[in-house]
Amino acid sequence: MPPLTIIIFGASGDLTSRKLIPALFHLDMAGLLPDDANIVGVARRPFSNDAFRSSVEPMTREAMLSMGESWFPGAWNRFAKRLFYVAGDATTTEGLQHLTEFLQKREGTTGGQRLYYLSVSPDLYPQIAARFGEAGYEKEIGGFRRVVIEKPFGHNLETGRAVNKSLHACFREDQIYRIDHYLGKETVQNILIFRFANTMFEPLWNHQYIDHVQITAAEKVPVGKRGGYYNDSGVLRDMFQSHLLQVVTMVAMENPGRYTADRLRNEKIKVLEAMKISKVEDAFNNIAVGQYDGYRNEEGVPKDSKTPTYAAIRLEIDNGRWSNVPFYVRSGKSMRSRYSEVSIQFRCPPHMLIPMPPGETLECNHLSLILQPNEGIRLNFQTKVPEVDGTRLQARDLAFDYRDAFTERALPEAYERLLLDAIMGEATLFMRNDEIEQAWEIMDPLIAATEAANAPQPEVYAPGSDGPKCADALLAKEGRKWQKIR
Ligand code: BG6
Repeated sequence: MPPLTIIIFGASGDLTSRKLIPALFHLDMAGLLPDDANIVGVARRPFSNDAFRSSVEPMTREAMLSMGESWFPGAWNRFAKRLFYVAGDATTTEGLQHLTEFLQKREGTTGGQRLYYLSVSPDLYPQIAARFGEAGYEKEIGGFRRVVIEKPFGHNLETGRAVNKSLHACFREDQIYRIDHYLGKETVQNILIFRFANTMFEPLWNHQYIDHVQITAAEKVPVGKRGGYYNDSGVLRDMFQSHLLQVVTMVAMENPGRYTADRLRNEKIKVLEAMKISKVEDAFNNIAVGQYDGYRNEEGVPKDSKTPTYAAIRLEIDNGRWSNVPFYVRSGKSMRSRYSEVSIQFRCPPHMLIPMPPGETLECNHLSLILQPNEGIRLNFQTKVPEVDGTRLQARDLAFDYRDAFTERALPEAYERLLLDAIMGEATLFMRNDEIEQAWEIMDPLIAATEAANAPQPEVYAPGSDGPKCADALLAKEGRKWQKIR
C-alpha cells in the first residue's frame, strides 16, 4: 500500500489542537493508524516541525486527561514523529508549492494515499478546491485522494449548491467527506442499532403508537468568543440545518437493509424529502425563537442583533409511518445544562383499567435516548405503588447507562470514529450533497422568516433557564409539553 498522509489545512487553528490531533493520537495508541501514516499540518505562518509538535501537545494532553485517560509521554513522543509542518496558503497556486514538493518527496513513485482535511474558513472551500484542481490534488495516482470538510456547507440553499458545485469541479462526490460530528457520536449511531437490532421497538415505531417525538440539544455555554461567526449563523444554521436534522433522519428513516453509505444515505434523504416545507409567511406557526439575555453584549455581536440563540421548531414528515406525528426539535445556548436527548412519546392507553384520580392525568410511556452528557436509555412506564389500601399509579424509569454497562472503555470521541472512517473510505457517517441541499430547502423559509425586516425580536430568556416561554406555547397549543431538561 502507498504511504498515507493526512494533510490538515488550518493547522494553527483551534480544531486541530482541540480535536483532530488528540483523535489521531488516540487512534495511534489504539494501534489503528497505519504504521506509515504521517500527519502534515499546513498553515500560513512559518513553523518548524518541532514547534508544531510542541504547539499541539498541551491540548492533546488536556483532551486525554479530560477523557479520563492517562498521559503517556513515550507514546506521545513516538506519535509526534509522525507530525510534520509545511507553511503554505492553499488559496494561491504558489502557496501549495512547498506542500507539493513535500508530498512528492514522501510518496516517491508510489503516488501515496492522501486525506486532505480542510479545517479552514468554509468561505475558502471554492478557492481551495480550484487550487487543488490546478495542482492535480484530486488525481488518484497510486492511492486514494479524499477531502474532509467541516460545516457550514453554505449559508442557504443557493450558496450550499454553489459550495457543492465548486467541490465537484475538482473532486468526485465519493471523494468528498462532509463531517457532521453528531453522526460520529456513539449514541447517535446507537439509534439505528436500538431500532433495527432489537425486535421490540420497531413494531411500535410509527404513528399508531407514537404520539410525537421531541429532540433536544441544550447547551450551557454561551457563544463566547465565536460571536462574529455565530451572529451571522444563528442557532437555526448552526445546529438545525446540520446536526439536528441528521438526528431526525436517524430516528425516522426506514431500515436501510444494509449498513452501507449509499443505503443509509438513500434512506436519510427520503426522510428529508418527505418533510413538509413551510412557507415563509406561515413559519411562525411552526417555530419559536429566543435570544439569551446578555447575548448582545458578547464580543462581535451588534447591539441590535435579532439572531436567535434558541429555537424550537415543529416538523412534519409526510409519509405513512409518521402521518400526524409532529417532531418538535429545540436547541439553545446558555441554557440550564448541557443535555441532548431524543424522546419518543408514546400514545396513551385507549382505555384506563384504573381511572385516574380527579385532576390528575396519566403520564404516558416515553422513551429517552440520552445523547449526552450521561449517555443512556430510559423507558418511563407506569407502576403500581406498593401499598395495601387501594391502587395508585406512579411512573418510573427502566434505565440503561453507557458508563455502567461498558466500564472497560470510555466512549470514543466523535472525531476518532470519523477520521478513521475517512481513512478507511467508509462514508456512511458523512453527509452527501443531496442531504445538505434538502436540509437547506427545509430550513431556508424558517430562517428567512426570522431574518425578515419585520421579523419579531426573539424572546429574551434568562441564561441558565429552559429557554423562552414561546417554545412552551408551541407545544401547548397542541396540548403537549416539553420533557424536562435534566
Ligand atoms: C457545533 C456548533 O457544530 O456544535 C457549536 O458550531 C455547538 O455552536 C456544537 O456548540 C455542539 O456540539 P456538541 O458536541 O458539544 O453537542
